[in-house]
Amino acid sequence: MQDLDFIVRAAKAAFAAIADPDALEQVKARYLGKNGQITALLKDMGTLAAEEKRKAGAAINQAKAAVEAALIERREAIRQAALSARLAEEALDVTLPGRSEAQGGLHPVTRTLERIERLFASIGFAVVDGPEIETDFYNFTALNTPEDHPARSMHDTFYLLEEDGSLAEKVLLRTHTSPIQARYMQAHAAKHAGQETMPEIRIIAPGRVYRVDSDATHSPMFHQVEGLWVGENVSFADLKGVIADFLRRFFETDDLKVRFRPSFFPFTEPSAEIDVAFLRGTRKEGWLEIAGCGMVHPNVLAHAGIDPERYTGFAFGCGPDRLAMLRYGVNDLRLFFESDLRFLRQFV
Ligand code: PHE
Repeated sequence: MQDLDFIVRAAKAAFAAIADPDALEQVKARYLGKNGQITALLKDMGTLAAEEKRKAGAAINQAKAAVEAALIERREAIRQAALSARLAEEALDVTLPGRSEAQGGLHPVTRTLERIERLFASIGFAVVDGPEIETDFYNFTALNTPEDHPARSMHDTFYLLEEDGSLAEKVLLRTHTSPIQARYMQAHAAKHAGQETMPEIRIIAPGRVYRVDSDATHSPMFHQVEGLWVGENVSFADLKGVIADFLRRFFETDDLKVRFRPSFFPFTEPSAEIDVAFLRGTRKEGWLEIAGCGMVHPNVLAHAGIDPERYTGFAFGCGPDRLAMLRYGVNDLRLFFESDLRFLRQFV
């Protein structure tokens, strides 16, 4: 059966010469397929005598097994070679430094505003909003500050010009958040007109305000949070209680002195400035003014359509930028608005 040995060797050589898996299956057919050489030998056995047939059959089957084994071995070798090639090609350089994701953080003033909102929300104040480009009417007139009132000169601001360069019809960047009071009271009174009792107003209104001012504690753009509580029997004692409690919770300390210093605002009467001082600690010594406040002036209530004989209320406007300076120990307000990441990263 020299023929068989020859076939086996030829098959092995043919398999070895092939690197492509599809081509390998083609060559397999040449030996083991329906018309393959080994298949043909098995078919030819029909002509042999019984004893011969047994011997030839065993030999042919042995050869067939050898060819099959060679085929399987070659298939596996090709698969391994392909895998190694792929691994080599897709190799990762694990020594490359990773790319970290850039992390954002909230601005210290934003954090302060959110903190103030949370504290007031916890005692039933709703957070409301108003336009930054405001009319002269809501910024001044509705707040008992008629044209030519001397208090207007303390609120020098940015006026908007018409296209022809003339001064726009009394439109300006709001100088405080108090116009939101006026707008809110007016809308609230209109909504509940005709009802026997007007529901209480309890709001805070945070936002940006503008003045012609710039030094370590003043910026042409800064923030205020307006507060307003209007109802029956709301008194100055309520104002003091709410503010003192808020400040203790804001600074997380009872070592805090709060002072109401008589002052003047056209839209409140009586009026006061609120100063704070810390009894201990590393924070700035002495009093620092953080808000203006007072009982809403009867003219302002009447202007909004609220009966000043029946309802009273208090309002305050505090400076969250200053609260942030105190809370974080920052000594120059302008740092908050220079967008220097070395400064801002410290608060993340
Ligand atoms: N709007 C005042 C200011 O900006 C502050 C204030 C608000 C005073 C509410 C009294 C009541 O100076």
